Amino acid sequence: MIKAGIYGGTFDPVHKGHIKCAEEVKKALSLDKIIFVPAGNPPHKFANPISLGRDRHNMLKAAVSGHEGFEICDAELLRTGYTFTADTLPEIEKRCPGHEFYYIMGSDAAAGFLNWYKAESIIARCRLVLVERPGDAQSDIDAIEKALRAAGAGTLVIKVEGLIDVSSSEIRRCVRERDEGLLDRLPAGVAQYIAANGLYREGAGDEEFIRADLERILKPERFVHSLGVAEEAERLAVRFGADPDKARLAGLLHDCAKNVKAEQLRWIGMKLEDFALTAGDGFREKLLHGPLGAIVAEKRYGIRDPEILDAVRKHTTGDYEMSLLDDIIFLADYTEKNRKGAFFEEIRVILDEWGIRKAELFAANELLVRFASNNAPVNIRTVIMRNRIIEEMNG
Ligand SMILES: [Fe+2]
Ligand SMILES: [Fe+2]
Repeated sequence: MIKAGIYGGTFDPVHKGHIKCAEEVKKALSLDKIIFVPAGNPPHKFANPISLGRDRHNMLKAAVSGHEGFEICDAELLRTGYTFTADTLPEIEKRCPGHEFYYIMGSDAAAGFLNWYKAESIIARCRLVLVERPGDAQSDIDAIEKALRAAGAGTLVIKVEGLIDVSSSEIRRCVRERDEGLLDRLPAGVAQYIAANGLYREGAGDEEFIRADLERILKPERFVHSLGVAEEAERLAVRFGADPDKARLAGLLHDCAKNVKAEQLRWIGMKLEDFALTAGDGFREKLLHGPLGAIVAEKRYGIRDPEILDAVRKHTTGDYEMSLLDDIIFLADYTEKNRKGAFFEEIRVILDEWGIRKAELFAANELLVRFASNNAPVNIRTVIMRNRIIEEMNG
């Protein structure tokens, strides 16, 4: 049997603390190898910007070179959508027959482990290695270990002395603020890679990064739709006199939270009800990705422009007040080229021949009819948008 430690993390960036931890665990348990598994798109990080997989992978390559028995598994980076450890382990087993696995965790990760997706299937496949850090309280470690054992896990606690006390987020902050203070905590090749590729610098609102990140986090057809909305929004902006760059970016972003579920809101300290105006306003989970998209656009992508954030926020429902950019994103969602079907054909014609207001009214009518025929609630913002268009037309 080959004994392999599995070490997961975002590694954004990998630093000497990670490498030291891996070395100590390998030595203490006489492991043959350590497999670093850079995280793909962990669901609890939906509000955090994580660097692209290829960059994190390249940094890991630089960090592990020269370390005997250190390998990298790219299984999560190759998947789209959310990635869970429980889904990754069977892939690693397939790639590594005849191995015995040890899953390495810090005490903070271990404390939440039993809430992980399919934790029991991880327990069934690996022994859990708890890495005790210098500052950890013995009583905490004991309690965590006891809980894991009670759940059937085989556990091992490894005390790592003098572990380099630095976090990836501190390193990112240093790079961003041009503070050289912590750069010696990075393996040389990693520091060089960060500098050469301008990682962690400005990057906020960088369209190329957003595009690549969306391709990673959205389902493929949703990503194609987002590109379509970006293109269509740009076209409409040119036609109706809005800022084409802003429109393209807002269109690209509009569904960025489409695959975020209501239960994930607790990871940013929110709940579905926080998005409703009042009881009976017709706000539902299906509409969440509008207002949540504005939050993700701001937190994950650093978008600060309130016009872009508003357009993303309003696109699922419309709203009391609609700016030209809001109109464009609301409509481009329906008129982009990948949408197929009679309703979409018709709204394209109405928009081209009759303009924004008539097209919005057509869309609002469709939503109203569709929801009413299913006995589903109609969102109050959509009703008000519709009423205001009608009043404007009659006035
Ligand atoms: Fe949407
Ligand atoms: Fe959409």
